[in-house]
Amino acid sequence: MKSLKVGLLGIGTVGGGTYAVLTRNQEEISRRAGCKIEIVKVADRNLELAKKLTNGQVEVTDDVMSIVTDPNVDVVVELIGGYTLAKDAILKAIEHGKHVVTANKALIATHGNEIFAAAKAKGVIVAFEAAVAGGIPIIKALREGLVANKIEWIAGIINGTTNFILTEMRDKGLAFSDVLGEAQRLGYAEADPTFDVEGIDAAHKLMIMSAIGFGIPMQFDKVYTEGITKLESKDIRYAEELGYRVKLLGMTKHSANGIEIRVHPTLIPEKRLIANVNGAMNAVVVKGDAVGPTLYYGAGAGSEPTASSVIADLVDVARMQNTSIQDRVPYLAYHDISATENTPILPISEISTAYYLRMRASDKPGVLAEVTKILGDRQISIDAMMQKEPQDGETEADIVILTHITVEKNMNAAIQAIEALPAIDGAVVKLRMEELNK
Ligand code: HSE
Repeated sequence: MKSLKVGLLGIGTVGGGTYAVLTRNQEEISRRAGCKIEIVKVADRNLELAKKLTNGQVEVTDDVMSIVTDPNVDVVVELIGGYTLAKDAILKAIEHGKHVVTANKALIATHGNEIFAAAKAKGVIVAFEAAVAGGIPIIKALREGLVANKIEWIAGIINGTTNFILTEMRDKGLAFSDVLGEAQRLGYAEADPTFDVEGIDAAHKLMIMSAIGFGIPMQFDKVYTEGITKLESKDIRYAEELGYRVKLLGMTKHSANGIEIRVHPTLIPEKRLIANVNGAMNAVVVKGDAVGPTLYYGAGAGSEPTASSVIADLVDVARMQNTSIQDRVPYLAYHDISATENTPILPISEISTAYYLRMRASDKPGVLAEVTKILGDRQISIDAMMQKEPQDGETEADIVILTHITVEKNMNAAIQAIEALPAIDGAVVKLRMEELNK
């Protein structure tokens, strides 16, 4: 039987899982791939660990470049992460005519255009299923299974760390900072959790899905990103009283004026399946014009779940390596994006959505009338409203308003006017809300 020779860059969590699953399921994977998939060389900074994990069966080095230039390697699996060495290694591998499999969402979202152009020129495959939502085969679904559809929107819980934190905040009524510490202790959040909690990791994954869904190049600088660090558990509680869950949602939508690509805390009706995705799990809803909404759920991170996607890509390479580039599934789903590549990405002020507003108001006659007049004057329709009684000794009440859909700049103008009312104390809390039903 022929064999596909793999050079593995990085044998940490995902690399270790890839080695273990490939070894454990080798016979079955070979029968599916039509050839043996064999890791022939591993590069890792930690040589001892690499030797231990590969049990002395595989050549081990700490020199990444010796793998990407090795004539005995057919495909390079990049699991180093980051931008510098990973990018150099991938471009060098492509230059040497090797196919590439990567889990590096940050690199694909920011340098994907350059990497795909280089790969196309060389006729090699760059596969990245593991870059989005870990073990969920969402790239496969978007590029192949849903190919008949005009994609209308994609909404995802695509960061497990923040979903774990939000689940704990809701279940235990805890503050963000208390749960973050717990997430770090349990090993969910990185020691520097910025990419997760500020929504950047989710934004990388969303950019990749948006490019595939709508036929646009990567343009990560246009993704609106807002994390969960300022979210108060009080708002999670009030949202729940109104029938909603708060999730860090990645939302990309084709609207009449352009494409929205945004990550932010979002109220979702609790009756939607995706609102009930808890803990560190991920889920993505894709709305196609023919199929309607479809939901993909599973582990968004972790050793063997992510390895499952890496190996699926390796099997694709094994099956397609002898085809021409025209006969393969295109990197970003389209052979030709000339009709869509310049579709504008809307700035956040131009997006349309519904809103949750919370304000602190003097508990006296006429205040609600003033607030609702400001909204009404701007054609912002109220969907639901709730006033919390002042607690003992307090003279101010929390007012929560859910609105129908409006353009964000219109809502911002209304909020400015509400904040200027003498009866309103401090800033209005604004969260976006998505019904995800049409
Ligand atoms: N840090 C990510 C998460 C996993 O929490 O989902 C890798 O993308």
